[in-house]
Amino acid sequence: MFFKKKKENANIDFDRLPKHIAFIMDGNGRWAKSRGQLRTYGHKVGAEALGDIIKHAQKLGIKYVSFFAFSTENWDRPKDEVDEIFRILREMIKQKKDSIINSDMRLMTMGDISRLPSDVVSEINDVIEKTKDHKGITVNIALNYGSRIEILRAINNIIKDGLKEVDEKTFRKYLYTSMIPDPDLVIRTSGEQRLSNFLMFQSAYSELYFPKTHWPDFREKELEKAIIEFQSRDRRFGKIKG
Ligand code: IPE
Ligand code: IPE
Ligand code: MG
Repeated sequence: MFFKKKKENANIDFDRLPKHIAFIMDGNGRWAKSRGQLRTYGHKVGAEALGDIIKHAQKLGIKYVSFFAFSTENWDRPKDEVDEIFRILREMIKQKKDSIINSDMRLMTMGDISRLPSDVVSEINDVIEKTKDHKGITVNIALNYGSRIEILRAINNIIKDGLKEVDEKTFRKYLYTSMIPDPDLVIRTSGEQRLSNFLMFQSAYSELYFPKTHWPDFREKELEKAIIEFQSRDRRFGKIKG
């Protein structure tokens, strides 16, 4: 593989890549503030970082990437900031839509997107529909997502379906992530060490990584560092080493 030969990737073992990396994209506001800018500027540059990370993950051969873009709790932020986040999302879709549809990338979302501006919802749904059979990297964006609501939604749908008891395999079918594997690695930028209601069921055995870098600065090199760190971990899944 081409990347094996590149010096800067010399430490990545391409036979042991994480299949699924999930990102809690935190620190946009602090990043902007430290530059004397508005928080929303951080979201704008954060969106650029998101694009860079998708491209690089794809080049490295990562199969699934998830991104926490907007939580069920983020509605409690000032309306101007919330509006600006969706304006940036709208712009991004407009700019990237054609190239995504013409690539082999599959887009999916998790969360109740019906509360987002309706034009954004229909554009997202259009891209999801047009990329649903794509076989390249799966890009999963969490929008109006919260793990607790996801679990409660699953339980309520199980009740609606008339099931009296479910095992883990059946329960998983009711989660937003039914089509994708659990994350092997969860990365939260900006130094906070918490999940903030992200993939709590699915990350039960994920490796967690908390770089100090704020999200807008989290680019190619940082991703490679995270993968190298992941590969140094010893995943035991409750068993004995060896
Ligand atoms: C993450 O950055 C983006 C969203 C939650 C939408 P923040 O906006 O949380 O930035 P900080 O944590 O306040 O620096
Ligand atoms: C988590 O970040 C949500 C996203 C990255 C979208 P927050 O900034 O909202 O989380 P807290 O408030 O610090 O826990
Ligand atoms: Mg934050």
